[in-house]
Amino acid sequence: MAGNWKMYKTPAQTKDFFAAFLPLVAEAKHCEIAICPPFVNIAAAVDAAKGSRVGIGAQNLYWKNEGAFTGEISGPMIKASGAEWVIIGHSERRQFFGETDATVLERTKAALAAGLKPIVCVGEMLAEREANQTDVVLTTQFNGGIASLSTDEFAQIVIAYEPVWAIGTGKVATPDMAADAHRTIRGLVNAKYGADAASKVRILYGGSVKPDNVKGLMAQPEIDGALVGGASLEAGSFASIVSF
Ligand code: 13P
Repeated sequence: MAGNWKMYKTPAQTKDFFAAFLPLVAEAKHCEIAICPPFVNIAAAVDAAKGSRVGIGAQNLYWKNEGAFTGEISGPMIKASGAEWVIIGHSERRQFFGETDATVLERTKAALAAGLKPIVCVGEMLAEREANQTDVVLTTQFNGGIASLSTDEFAQIVIAYEPVWAIGTGKVATPDMAADAHRTIRGLVNAKYGADAASKVRILYGGSVKPDNVKGLMAQPEIDGALVGGASLEAGSFASIVSF
């Protein structure tokens, strides 16, 4: 269960969140929990989460380790700041910041080389779904952004299926729709990496996951977890999602 805070919260607000959140999930041992705040809050989050089961992640990274790349942050820097996870290829980065399948692959390899666990995002836009192109889009994103990983590399990633039309819109995919897309992705994994990898890979659903719809989504055997935006910003709502 991962929270993507996007561009929200300051270090002080991060500290407040953890003070409220940690007691609420102290007994939640059925899943891994991650919070991915903005870069500038990672240190505060790592400090606040120390001794708990909550892992911290970044929302992006650049694929060079260091250099003259103004404004960028590298995998080794994220790792050194105490984070374990990194979200890669989120649709907002694809839509607004020029992310492509090729750069998703570069970032994923760099994250793995730095010892971070990538959460690699895929998902179709509304027009693509309406044109019955969901499977084509997922296949293209998988082939371009993931399928060049070695078997060992692939075993370390988590995939997040986030239909763009469901993100921040309150329009959640029905459990059946999400499960269909997850089956497509798992089929691609099976074809490329084999049945064992397909059964082991964790595929998270993201897009308007809330305390009142998480149970239905998680009832689908295909859905292994959730990547939560808005509802992860408030301790009570993210804790009820974690403890669905
Ligand atoms: P919302 O949960 O706010 O729809 O955001 C989903 C998302 O983009 C998580 O990465």
